[in-house]
Amino acid sequence: MSYVRLVNVTKRFGDVTAVDNLNFEIGKGECFSMLGPSGCGKTTTLRMVAGFEDLSDGEVWVGDNLMSSPRKNHYLPPEKRNFGMVFQAFAVWPHMSVYDNVAFPLQIRKLPKSEIEQRTTDALKATNLLSAANESPDFLSGGGKQRVALARALAINPDVMLLDEPLSSLDPHLREEMRFEIKELQQKYGFSIIYVTHDQSEAMALSDRIMVMKLGVMQQIDTPLNIYNHPANQFVFSFIGLSNFLNVVWRDGKLYLKGEGDKLAMPDELVPPEDLKGEPELSLASRPSEINFTSMTDPEALHGVVSRKAFLGEIIDYQIKAGEQTLRVQKGRRDPGPEAGENCAVHFERPFWYKGHAK
Ligand SMILES: Nc1ncnc2c1ncn2[C@@H]1O[C@H](COP(=O)(O)OP(=O)(O)OP(=O)(O)O)[C@@H](O)[C@H]1O
Ligand SMILES: [Mg+2]
Repeated sequence: MSYVRLVNVTKRFGDVTAVDNLNFEIGKGECFSMLGPSGCGKTTTLRMVAGFEDLSDGEVWVGDNLMSSPRKNHYLPPEKRNFGMVFQAFAVWPHMSVYDNVAFPLQIRKLPKSEIEQRTTDALKATNLLSAANESPDFLSGGGKQRVALARALAINPDVMLLDEPLSSLDPHLREEMRFEIKELQQKYGFSIIYVTHDQSEAMALSDRIMVMKLGVMQQIDTPLNIYNHPANQFVFSFIGLSNFLNVVWRDGKLYLKGEGDKLAMPDELVPPEDLKGEPELSLASRPSEINFTSMTDPEALHGVVSRKAFLGEIIDYQIKAGEQTLRVQKGRRDPGPEAGENCAVHFERPFWYKGHAK
């Protein structure tokens, strides 16, 4: 059942359309991530949901309650929306103890003293901060400071937790650990999460569903697995995981690798789906781990030369030159493979075809 709902949400800053006609719905208790490169409109979207930014058009709903609608001249201020928020920068107050940092928003809401104590203590317990309650957050590590921000957001008992790159200033190991802590807190408290990140592995690990955005426009909304296995377009393919794109041209019913004169024919049995056969320009997308070395006589194989072979520990990373284009192939360190400088034939285990050439 949908809980948070964005309907045709648009935000313009002067000539820039930061968010372009966005529609999505989030279920109660769901973790929904917004993923995309810098400037694609993630923070702007989150700020509109929170009420820090007005909308140029569209509506934001939570359950049956309208939060924002410029057309209906309706706007509920942030403090009336029951959202917890954690941002990238450590937004803790150094002159207050950890305890007071967490209790402060509850005091502003003028809750009864006993309830403030109870909620603050619970939130500090849940984030493993009880022993630091009387210290200044200045003495805490980056992870500790983000826990204080999380505890403060938890204490208000939010319906929805809005998290904008909350882990990006932490070191990789801590970042991974805190992902699971956030997930555990969500399971315990049952709030919904809208999580902003440009780290795809973070989005994959945390989310029930991911929305991929580009230049303010939604590209795909789906489960992490479906986004990885069925990317809706070239952009999504390139943004999730490692990717290869070979640009090919379709001429007189045959495919050729793009390059000087477009003379290098693609193997006859490596063909795009029916609906793309009329397209003059196509790209063949593949993942480095889903390409195999095969025999030179394999009718589906593309031929090339190994231009670089690098040992990366568990995997071996090959760079293959096919005409003027390059492919990356990754195999396990125990898998047989050609040496640098040798000719080779590669077989695409799971080729994807998209209209148009990759840049
Ligand atoms: N207050 C503002 N005034 C003018 N333009 C803005 C303002 N806030 C954001 N923008 C523009 O809106 C677009 C989206 O910005 P936004 O901060 O939402 O991106 P983002 O996806 O969060 O990026 P990042 O990953 O870098 O945080 C950008 O082009 C940005 O320059
Ligand atoms: Mg941002």
